[in-house]
Amino acid sequence: MSKASAPGKLILFGEHFVVYGLPAIATAIEARTTAIVEKADKYFLEDNRPETPGYKVEKYGQQIDSVKRIFKAMGIDPNKTPVKINLGGDLVAASGVGASAASCAAIAAALNDYFGLGFDKEKLNEIAYEGEKGYHGVPSGIDNSCSTFGGFIWFKKEPENSTVSHIDLELSLPMVIGNTGITSNTSKVVEEVKKEKEKNPEKFKTIFDMYTGLVGDARAAIERKDLDGIGQLMGKNHGLLRELGVSCKELEELVDIALKNGALGAKLTGTGRGGLMIALVEDKDSRKVAAAFENAGYKSQITKIGANGVRVE
Ligand code: PMV
Repeated sequence: MSKASAPGKLILFGEHFVVYGLPAIATAIEARTTAIVEKADKYFLEDNRPETPGYKVEKYGQQIDSVKRIFKAMGIDPNKTPVKINLGGDLVAASGVGASAASCAAIAAALNDYFGLGFDKEKLNEIAYEGEKGYHGVPSGIDNSCSTFGGFIWFKKEPENSTVSHIDLELSLPMVIGNTGITSNTSKVVEEVKKEKEKNPEKFKTIFDMYTGLVGDARAAIERKDLDGIGQLMGKNHGLLRELGVSCKELEELVDIALKNGALGAKLTGTGRGGLMIALVEDKDSRKVAAAFENAGYKSQITKIGANGVRVE
């Protein structure tokens, strides 16, 4: 038997801006997906991950395709060497937290260990990327890189090959995730932002220029381990996302609650118009912020960012 685990991710800076080739920063979170590989008479996959209701059924066909791609990329024939793969862990399978990438990285690492293939992290990242294609067609590569390498990732989309670099530092920060309970539709929101940009090129240019300065400052603040600086820049990034039109009443309320309860900074994360937001907190304030979200009728999760990447357990 072999067991491996891999973390989920959150976008810290730059959702939407990243679509237009500006850099984004994402980070691995403490919540992880585990994959256990065992000998079996016939290949099968058992998925015991916690989920947002309906998520696993909706993704079932894509998951089958994804695992097939992983087997192929690793040179494993599940008909000749059948295994059972069991998925679990505390990462809730949901949109916006990199659940598919975490499962791909964990499966790849567990199979690597079980079959004694000796692949390094670079190769495991390539395999997880292949697996991601089953879910996303042409994924950006940011989620699997977060899951594989952990820590913080600096990402820039390029017309051919996107640049993904690992910001190499030991930094683990408490974060509270607030959930609006609204499922946002990424492709629809991205399309609507694009139309808005075409209508208001001047306005968008100003916002993009401001963001370009901000993301450079954000990287420097992370490298300096400057919590207050990171928090302030998260707030500024949220303001720019609001100007792009991707916030909503619920996200504004959650950001407001977080700041009133001592968060160092708060912003929406991922697609927006629903979905998730994040609040950077000091350890002592994490429960207070999470409780305030719950009291206002939202779901919350306390996690740590800058977590370790994929590993054999
Ligand atoms: O909601 P998520 O975590 O899948 O993030 C979407 C991020 C966008 O920038 C809005 C879209 C994209 O493809 O980068």
